[in-house]
Amino acid sequence: MRVDAETSGYSCDIAVVHAEDGQFYALDDECSHESVALSDGFVEEDTLECPMHASAFCLKTGVPETLPAISPVRTHVVSIEDGHIILHPGTSQPDAATS
Ligand code: FES
Repeated sequence: MRVDAETSGYSCDIAVVHAEDGQFYALDDECSHESVALSDGFVEEDTLECPMHASAFCLKTGVPETLPAISPVRTHVVSIEDGHIILHPGTSQPDAATS
């Protein structure tokens, strides 16, 4: 799912995904290789795969685990409160890469 910048108040769109571990994760919705929406990609185990050239970004750290992307994308904390998915734009997950 894509949360657009206008809705979140963050500087860019954010991709929110439901992973195979049952958790929700959020990453900047732009691949670090080229300007492609990661929300159009595919969740594979603990990664989000870019739909253009298939770099797989770790959902927890934002680090690409496969080429051609070499730079991480920013992560955002997602919490569940009273059954609602709450996105915390600009708040990186604790084990996120720093760049
Ligand atoms: S545009 Fe995402 S890996 Fe190339």
